[in-house]
Amino acid sequence: MQTPDELYIDLLKKTLTFSLWPEPPVPLGIFGRRKHSTRRKMAQGINRMLSARGLLLAEVPAYSAEQRAGGEVWPGYADTMAGLHRLNNVEQCVRQVVADGVPGDFIETGVWRGGTCILMRGVLKALGVSDRRVFVADSFEGLPQPEMDRYPQDKGDALYDYDFLAVSEETVRGNFERYGLLDDQVVFLKGFFADTLPDAPIDQLAIMRLDGDMYSSTMDALNNLYHKLSPGGFCIIDDYALPVCAQAVEDFRKEHGIDEPLEPIDNFAKFWRKAA
Ligand SMILES: C[S@@+](CC[C@H](N)C(=O)[O-])C[C@H]1O[C@@H](n2cnc3c(N)ncnc32)[C@H](O)[C@@H]1O
Repeated sequence: MQTPDELYIDLLKKTLTFSLWPEPPVPLGIFGRRKHSTRRKMAQGINRMLSARGLLLAEVPAYSAEQRAGGEVWPGYADTMAGLHRLNNVEQCVRQVVADGVPGDFIETGVWRGGTCILMRGVLKALGVSDRRVFVADSFEGLPQPEMDRYPQDKGDALYDYDFLAVSEETVRGNFERYGLLDDQVVFLKGFFADTLPDAPIDQLAIMRLDGDMYSSTMDALNNLYHKLSPGGFCIIDDYALPVCAQAVEDFRKEHGIDEPLEPIDNFAKFWRKAA
């Protein structure tokens, strides 16, 4: 039989991923299109006119429950893109470091609507842990443009042009509040990682979860945070299926002689545990 904290965390994961309900239609022009695409602008124009009459044009999502659980789609309504399998991994990592007394805070670099960090905070609350913080690191205005002089590996990356990926700090704070989980154990680091992570007020980490999609975002997080990860801590790579992200991880592991096994979480993400 599930204990009350297991029941709470289970419900939290299902709510954050919006998997208790079928996905409702999503207003046309909201996502999956670049900022200046003509189709997107036309759809938004039509919806502006229709909204005066209380109507809107919407598309019915074509993805399956399995694709949502696997975090393989950009969801319309969930508070995280990660999907249930990856949230299970986050829960397990939090439980493990708490059970083993691995010292340190938690961070996610690249939070979007904040759902994965909300889960971290919720699990700490359920376990009665009050001496660990959750760092919420994001520009809160989407991805950066590729910086060809620092990271030529990002050549051609166009994710900066999708404002679906830009969620404001105010919205993310509001999301934490809706779950009753915004307090002083949650610390926001606003700005691009290259600017915020070098001087972030973090001494020790027990979990670092990277979800910044690009070579630069992944490498900036590894370079600035991995040495703060305690032995026995977890390094989770959400975007391992993206070739540039895998490349950054492999380059970093090779340069630093990291040979702890990379374990799959689902078809997309991987993680490893730093040797104790
Ligand atoms: C795929 S989304 C993250 C999804 C999120 N982890 C979740 O559970 O739904 C990528 C996020 O990374 C942020 N991001 C990517 N690169 C960044 C960088 N270099 N600096 C700051 N934020 C960045 C974007 O603003 C966006 O919110």
